[in-house]
Amino acid sequence: MTDIALLGFGRIAQVHAKAIASGNLPINVRAVADANPDARAAAAQLGAKTFESVDELLSAGLELDAALVASSTPFHVEHTTLALDAGLHVLCEKPLSEDVQEVRHLTELAAEKGLVLRTAFNRRFDPLFRDLKSRIGTETGPVRSVHIISRDPFPPPPGYPRSAGSMLRDMTIHDFDTARYLVDDDIVAVTARGTGTFDTDALAVGDTDTVFLILEMARGTLIGIDNCRATSYGFDQRIEVHGEAGTLHAGNEALPQATRIGAAGFTTPRLVDFFPTRYAQSYIDQLSSFGNAIAAAKAGAAPDDIAADGRDALQALQAALAGWRSIVEGRRVTLEEVE
Ligand SMILES: NC(=O)c1ccc[n+]([C@@H]2O[C@H](COP(=O)([O-])OP(=O)(O)OC[C@H]3O[C@@H](n4cnc5c(N)ncnc54)[C@H](O)[C@@H]3O)[C@@H](O)[C@H]2O)c1
Repeated sequence: MTDIALLGFGRIAQVHAKAIASGNLPINVRAVADANPDARAAAAQLGAKTFESVDELLSAGLELDAALVASSTPFHVEHTTLALDAGLHVLCEKPLSEDVQEVRHLTELAAEKGLVLRTAFNRRFDPLFRDLKSRIGTETGPVRSVHIISRDPFPPPPGYPRSAGSMLRDMTIHDFDTARYLVDDDIVAVTARGTGTFDTDALAVGDTDTVFLILEMARGTLIGIDNCRATSYGFDQRIEVHGEAGTLHAGNEALPQATRIGAAGFTTPRLVDFFPTRYAQSYIDQLSSFGNAIAAAKAGAAPDDIAADGRDALQALQAALAGWRSIVEGRRVTLEEVE
């Protein structure tokens, strides 16, 4: 059994708590820290001890193995550092940090202490994307291009931290990681364009709500990413991998409803609403893998899995920073430029 503390108990932490329960995982949520009393009240219903701050939780003398950092992005570095300093293995929500040097520092700190540090790029664990990845090469032949479409149903709620370029660090960051994961290759340069027309909170801080990006990978593959902060029809998540021998298409997940055929044509079911539903299994598998990695670390063995490590967190962040610079400066930007 892994005894874990949840640092932050908002939207995503509650998805993780549900994943632990529905996946029947050998993970015990011993404690939760959240500054918001409503969040603490929700956490208390899990039977967890609740605390107003991470400091308070970590000095309470609880016997813990790990922390899941799911607080707001500006607190990831502080909370991850506190947890590592307390000797806990850490799974931190994306982005690990919004600063390249801080990602390096956290990675080194975890390595020095012999602790597992992972970034929650959960889409690596999605069964559909895993199937797609496993068939690239054998069924596509050499890959010529990849197209990733990722559109949210609606923008983040009011109060969600925003700043210029944060759409790339918050949303597109998943797609940068998916791109690298699918083709097992690094991103060397990004060319991006972005506009803002409807997400007023993003516009207020000079951010975008719609972006198109071209990634150049080290082995020459081109990957296109098409992101939008809203759609009128649900959570639009599609990937196409085009190769010499064929194309693999990972389509959207729809509600389990029959298609109606009538005089006006075919009426197919709606798409699932958002990430907690579309990626439900990936959250379970990600936590299961984190538990296994902790067990391996305790036994002195190397974990054998697909989770994102510090280098993956770094590459995704560098791609996001390069993408923003490309939008602002109107040119192709290499990842080396955002060292
Ligand atoms: N992997 C995914 O699919 C996914 C999905 C959504 C969000 N996220 C990430 O998860 C993080 C949280 O996002 P969210 O949507 O759950 O936001 P949220 O605002 O719903 O939750 C954040 C919680 O952290 C708490 N908090 C903030 N500062 C704190 C502090 N200093 N001490 C203690 N508690 C504090 C807030 O009170 C809030 O309850 C973000 O970094 C986001 O990028 C990941």
